Amino acid sequence: MIISLIAAVAANNVIGVKGDLPWHLPVDLKFFSETTKGHFVIMGRKNFDSIPEKYRPLPGRPNIVVTRNKDFNATNVTVCASIEAGIEHAKNHHESEVFIIGGGDIYRQTIGIADKIYITHIDAHPEGDTYFPEFNKDEWTSELILEKGVDDVHNHAFTTFVYTRKS
Ligand SMILES: NC(=O)c1ccc[n+]([C@@H]2O[C@H](COP(=O)([O-])OP(=O)(O)OC[C@H]3O[C@@H](n4cnc5c(N)ncnc54)[C@H](OP(=O)(O)O)[C@@H]3O)[C@@H](O)[C@H]2O)c1
Repeated sequence: MIISLIAAVAANNVIGVKGDLPWHLPVDLKFFSETTKGHFVIMGRKNFDSIPEKYRPLPGRPNIVVTRNKDFNATNVTVCASIEAGIEHAKNHHESEVFIIGGGDIYRQTIGIADKIYITHIDAHPEGDTYFPEFNKDEWTSELILEKGVDDVHNHAFTTFVYTRKS
């Protein structure tokens, strides 16, 4: 099973502010949705909480939420007490590619075991309080898969790359 991270990251590495995303980029959200549909997604409890109630669990893919809170409860999600347990759960269900979908705490703990990283690089320097971890690009090959300029709906340009760990 491949372990993949997927994130949208600003030029200053910001990924979140006050429990939310610092931007609204529908084409990137569509890319995220199409890429992860049909696959197990693993997220931190804070990321889960940040998703508006009407959009969670994320449809069309089994949602795993990791939390240390034994009393945490949510409808139609699998709750795991560790990231390892979440990964094991996906593996046991014959997943081919599990997606780690953040936030910052979860990315930081999993980037070392990731096989692939899908990053939308956003041409912006927003204020933020949550960051994507640094990683050494020399250890990864990269492929540009999406490019989008500014338009009426998207106030930042972005490029999406898939990074694959060199063997
Ligand atoms: N730009 C992007 O692509 C992107 C993607 C996702 C999220 N975000 C943003 O990121 C922010 C949230 O990120 P965050 O770093 O604050 O939180 P997070 O990573 O979403 O969640 C952290 C929580 O996950 C649980 N957790 C962490 N490690 C664990 C472990 N090893 N075992 C069990 N549970 C564990 C804990 O939950 P408990 O406290 O319940 O124990 C912890 O408080 C939001 O602003 C969100 O909008 C951005």
